[in-house]
Amino acid sequence: MQIFRLSFSITCLLICLHTSLQAQTARVREDFDKNWTFYLGNATHAEDAGFNDASWRKLNLPHDWSIELPFDSTSPTGTGGGALRGGLGWYRKTFTLPVTDKGKIIFIDFDGVYCNSEVFINGHSLGVRPNGYISFRYDLTSYLKFGNEKNIIAVKVDNSRQPNSRWYSGSGIYRNVWLVKTNSTYVDNWGTYITTPSVSAASARVNLTTTLSGTGEYCDVTTTIMNAAGKTVASQTQKNLHVGALQTSQQAFTIQAPVLWSLENPYLYKAVTKVMTAGKVIDEYTTPFGIRSFQFDVNKGFFLNGKPLKIVGVCNHHDLGCLGTAINTRALERQLQIMKGMGVNGIRTSHNPPAPELLDLCDKMGFIVMDEAFDMWKRSKTKYDYSNDWDEWYKKDLKDQILRDRNHPSVFIWSLGNEIPEQGAKQGDTSGTMYLREMQQIVRSLDSRPTVTANNHVGSGNQLLKSDITDLIGYNYHHADWHPDSVQKRWGNKPFIVTESVSALQTRGHYDMPSDSMRVWPKRWDLPIAGANADLTCSAYENCFTPWGSSHLASLRMFLKHESISGMFVWTGFDYIGEPTPYEWPARSSYFGIVDLAGFPKDVYYLYQSLFTTQNMLHLFPHWNWKPGQTIDMWAYYNNADEVELFINGKSQGVKRKEGDDLYVMWRVQYEPGKVEAVSRKNGKVIATKVINTAGAPAKIVLQADRNLIQGNGKDLSFVTVKVVDAAGNLVPDAANNIQFKISGAGFIAGVDNGCETSMESFKASERKAFNGMCLAVIQSNGKPGAIKLQAQSTGLAPASIDINVK
Ligand code: GAL
Repeated sequence: MQIFRLSFSITCLLICLHTSLQAQTARVREDFDKNWTFYLGNATHAEDAGFNDASWRKLNLPHDWSIELPFDSTSPTGTGGGALRGGLGWYRKTFTLPVTDKGKIIFIDFDGVYCNSEVFINGHSLGVRPNGYISFRYDLTSYLKFGNEKNIIAVKVDNSRQPNSRWYSGSGIYRNVWLVKTNSTYVDNWGTYITTPSVSAASARVNLTTTLSGTGEYCDVTTTIMNAAGKTVASQTQKNLHVGALQTSQQAFTIQAPVLWSLENPYLYKAVTKVMTAGKVIDEYTTPFGIRSFQFDVNKGFFLNGKPLKIVGVCNHHDLGCLGTAINTRALERQLQIMKGMGVNGIRTSHNPPAPELLDLCDKMGFIVMDEAFDMWKRSKTKYDYSNDWDEWYKKDLKDQILRDRNHPSVFIWSLGNEIPEQGAKQGDTSGTMYLREMQQIVRSLDSRPTVTANNHVGSGNQLLKSDITDLIGYNYHHADWHPDSVQKRWGNKPFIVTESVSALQTRGHYDMPSDSMRVWPKRWDLPIAGANADLTCSAYENCFTPWGSSHLASLRMFLKHESISGMFVWTGFDYIGEPTPYEWPARSSYFGIVDLAGFPKDVYYLYQSLFTTQNMLHLFPHWNWKPGQTIDMWAYYNNADEVELFINGKSQGVKRKEGDDLYVMWRVQYEPGKVEAVSRKNGKVIATKVINTAGAPAKIVLQADRNLIQGNGKDLSFVTVKVVDAAGNLVPDAANNIQFKISGAGFIAGVDNGCETSMESFKASERKAFNGMCLAVIQSNGKPGAIKLQAQSTGLAPASIDINVK
């Protein structure tokens, strides 16, 4: 026993010693988000180390200051930018470094700052970065102090020149920041590149290029490939590599019986690269990757691992609703889960490089990503947009995007631009072709994935399509033309993908009758409907869309019809802040989403679910609160069934079946209060039922958390759905009661919303009006374990409360 104990503690000691040696010797990557100070406005000399920021606000990153401001009809961002102001802001952080860090190379990594940032260390400018969506790194080493001496990072963020975006951009250090410490020989930033040039069920070849930076040391580079269970499946050492300024190491592996990355099983391996001198690990760098093969075929569309697969994608902007653009992994994960739930398998990062966390999640959850670079090139879309920085920055920004993102198995396509004005440049202006050719060369020098541009002009004058430079043909809209006779005949024999489609306009829970009366508006994209002259709603039937777009139904029918269409990305999965087409002020967020800004599905969500998931589902709409005698169109989306029968207060309204290319069934009925019920049957057997009752007056509040247990890491979230119901528990479909929240314990309210595109209430308040019966409170851990109690009350309603545990 004694001996056992002794040997146990010696082992412990050795492990501890080993870990602390490792900690001293290998790289360290620290979360650098905590304890910043912030000032909104220009502060003279704030870059100086001696500047006094004691009066500034203290906060943790990521941070979006615009989301905290009131909606403002005079904001120069316009309603396109969400009517929330930009401005200029400063961030500062004081930190010390232990003396043992002397001799290390120390970097600061910013995942994204919107926009025009300038970073200073101890009063020295490290550089500027105009692009608000790109990740970047600075080397701090030669300016740092150690021991008790303080270091000051100051970041100036200038989002004051407006408008510079067609959608809500947010402002500030809205993505994560990292401090990276390495030895003098280290794997460079984004320094590994993994490819899988041959993949079969029997084996896969994995090639790894590692770029090392150093000062002339000789080292051994060992890379171990581990499977998802952490078991080593291959390993290789390259001996005695001389690392001058920059050196690449090439390693090749064969993996027997690889588990392929797929949408159903997004299996990830990792390559752990150790750089060693004299038997000591001086750097360690991990690259997660997937093994999969894919192909775009001109006639047969997209194939993943040899199997045909239609990419059912959505376009999304980067805001997270009431959280603004401040990145939060759980909020992103929830968005992706909601998308998965309707059968979506593709994400287009419209129209910019995403947060790295989005790609990590898509790798893990199984999505096909179209990773987009730009919304404009040299020709502007808004006065102060990136076109002003184009000449100086586009090559570097594109290169950095590819370097950062090329190991993600979820990335399948590089989009080099959305609706680029140069596409239709006048005769003689070939600048668009020139830029495209240069970008194609940049991509090709770094990666072999296919490229595309998202074209909204598809007439023969399109310079970009004519130039034949990109690998895929990409169309935005023009659904009537999505057949090979039109696409391939015009542009050559290349695979086709619908880079953007639909642009239907819907307000959750609002219905314009009859459902076949089409509202196609605004008449022109540049002529929004003045708020005062409109009711500021759109209809959640398939009867409201933009003239350049279509209903979901129309685009889906074409999408399903032609095998040659590899995929399509619907505009949009989620509503986003800004671009409130077809309205202007006081509308301030989009109507395009399949899901509203709060994350509540609109009815059309279930159309996708019926087509692209296999679960038994039946969705009946609209609600059942109308004027007696009113003519109402009842719609049903369903799958796995032969027929659906509708009953009103027990009386059959007939049996309906989807025939031909029908994607739904409908009954035109007379409203009478009571109960409407749909029943779907397969081979005469009932497989799903849906009942909607006429709701009485609002009587109580119901709370439902998406998760009752969250992590106490200060970042995790619980999304609490609030419903206003009648005495019998039926959702009151037009309830607008103001719900007041009280929170206690280990969390705070990170945001509130209701999905209403015209609400002027603050996203950061502790109350929210219900919109069409529902609202949302987002609860965030405050960094401590314990319990959270959320209470909700409203005059005249029975209150409710919910407990959330924090681990
Ligand atoms: C597209 C554009 C998108 C969005 C959409 C709205 O033309 O690419 O960014 O503006 O229209 O319908």
